[in-house]
Amino acid sequence: MLRPVTPAITAAPGTAAYDAQITYKRLLPRIRAHWDTAFVSVDDQEIFENRLEDQWPRLFSLLRSLYGHRYDFFYHLERITLAVAKGFSDRSVELKEIDHRRVNEPDWFSSQQMVGGALYVDLFSENLGKLREHIAYFGSLGLTYLHLMPLFAVRPGDNDGGYAISNYRSVDPRLGTIDDLEALAADLHQSRIVLVLDFVFNHTADDHFWAKQAMAGDPEFQDFYYMFPNREMPDRYETTLREIFPTVRRGNFTWNDSVDRWIWTTFNSFQWDLNYSNPAVFEAMLAELLFIANTGVDILRFDAVAFIWKRLGTSCENLPEAHHLIQAFNACVKVACPGVVFKSEAIVHPDEVVRYIGPDECQLSYNPTLMALCWESLATRDTKLLKRSLLHRHHLPGGTSWVNYLRCHDDVGWTFDDADASAVGINAFNHRQFLNRFYTGQFPGSFARGVPFQENPDTGDMRISGTMASLAGLEQAIDRDDPELKEMAIRRILLLNSIILTVGGIPLLYLGEEWGTINDYDFVRDPAKASDTRWVHRPKMRWEWLAETNQGLGERGRIYGSLRRMIAIRKNEPAFAGMRMELIPTESPQVLSYIRQNGGGRIVVLANFAEYPTSIEGNRLRTSGLGRFFRDLIADEMISTSTDIALQPYQFMWLARA
Ligand code: GLC
Ligand code: GLC
Repeated sequence: MLRPVTPAITAAPGTAAYDAQITYKRLLPRIRAHWDTAFVSVDDQEIFENRLEDQWPRLFSLLRSLYGHRYDFFYHLERITLAVAKGFSDRSVELKEIDHRRVNEPDWFSSQQMVGGALYVDLFSENLGKLREHIAYFGSLGLTYLHLMPLFAVRPGDNDGGYAISNYRSVDPRLGTIDDLEALAADLHQSRIVLVLDFVFNHTADDHFWAKQAMAGDPEFQDFYYMFPNREMPDRYETTLREIFPTVRRGNFTWNDSVDRWIWTTFNSFQWDLNYSNPAVFEAMLAELLFIANTGVDILRFDAVAFIWKRLGTSCENLPEAHHLIQAFNACVKVACPGVVFKSEAIVHPDEVVRYIGPDECQLSYNPTLMALCWESLATRDTKLLKRSLLHRHHLPGGTSWVNYLRCHDDVGWTFDDADASAVGINAFNHRQFLNRFYTGQFPGSFARGVPFQENPDTGDMRISGTMASLAGLEQAIDRDDPELKEMAIRRILLLNSIILTVGGIPLLYLGEEWGTINDYDFVRDPAKASDTRWVHRPKMRWEWLAETNQGLGERGRIYGSLRRMIAIRKNEPAFAGMRMELIPTESPQVLSYIRQNGGGRIVVLANFAEYPTSIEGNRLRTSGLGRFFRDLIADEMISTSTDIALQPYQFMWLARA
């Protein structure tokens, strides 16, 4: 069998295209030498080389812009290209088939069938083996996307919920092995559930092999991190940096006795930021990424994307190079394992959040603005800020999608835009203070039982921990044993879920929320968790409650039963696929309403964000061209628009044309 052909050089010398082509030509023999040692079939060689040729101009120009000034650029380029080839040759036949399918259907994740859940393996099922026994549970809830919180080997003691990784190639032994992970991935695929894992690439744990080598005095590994012999540079950087975990430690640097240096640690002191200005770090993390992808992961959650590039005199967040780095990873994946897509975790200003989203960067992104504003509307009983944000910020480019959530393993932060707020007459600073007081239950009349997270003594800033049910009033209602309050809390929970299930994008539940788990204050007894209030909303799964839940008994049963039904309805309605969404103006500030249209399907969603009834003019819907008769899929009732439509406290409707 013959090798695939070597492409001819067509560009003129002195152009960027020529540089890319000649470099490709020079690298090709090295790649082909790899094919021979790895016994790659000629068909596969051709697939790979075609993809590489497609991606090459982009990959070359990205890496050149990041590292082209280095005397050893070609060396690193070769190593990076070979890492991509190795990632491809190590990939299983089954995963290559998935790649092939998704290349032909790049927006596969836009289907209304996509519904996500996230969980900690140890808290949910103890380990990966037992998790396999619970796949039926995900199926009965309707999940098709499962995010397992970080499960790789971690440092002893506090490990930031798995985000302090000491080895990306082995699973935390308490949870299982890489073989268990691969077996689980295969089982999930059988059940048509996609697997999501984190790519924690901003930092490693302080006991990762690279960190240990650095502490042992190896300069090559010291160059994997940001290390400074004295306070001079840290102090200069500090003048423009935020503090992410101010209650853990002030500032962004940690003194380390073994290396006798200050180390850049954006998060906890044991999480060392990687130095991506060193191409060896990009190459090393690319190899880890491809290894993780080859275990059978469909979606990689890019953790803490905002922080991965630093430059003196800037906030060291959201720098252009951060985007170039992710785009370079994206180009590598499009060659080695194009079925894998990226999800961005950028919990930053909304203008910055969207910059990570694109078919060539992160196809998916958390939607922290929607999350924050759902809670904001619930507190204010007024949807004007939410509407403004949806109007200007919901739309995304083709081939991408939001991941819409209400709670996750992290805190709630009020990351809305100040100008959006002032455009609707809200003072952002005061409003954030109000929201913090409201959600920590300090505001008179508040139903919420949140807990402050990372309160900054200098700025007064804080974020909020707490489960959905506790933030929505269920904990308070249970404490007061008040049926009326319980009813309202349950309605709030379902109302907010109604939004993420219908507004456009992949809805993502943090498991436990599906039956209204309330805050668990026991975390303070575990010294490795006590100082981090986020553990209040990461309770253990209580399987003994599931039976009751399944029978629809009690608050838990009602929440679970209703959510399950809403999920099933969503999955049945093509109108909920994709992202297209138009707001319908209404007189009433407490009502949010929009139309979803897709593939001939059309659904109107109405939602009342207040504990008092309201009505919306039937005329409004009629003149929006929506016809006269609807079926509310939630109440399973006919609605006529010839009269006004009454909405009960916290009621929502999903109206399909009858
Ligand atoms: C992300 C994670 C968070 C973690 C941080 C540091 O924001 O979601 O849980 O603490 O990154 O890895
Ligand atoms: C994230 C965010 C921050 C979040 C934290 C984890 O990257 O910037 O808001 O709370 O890390 O808690």
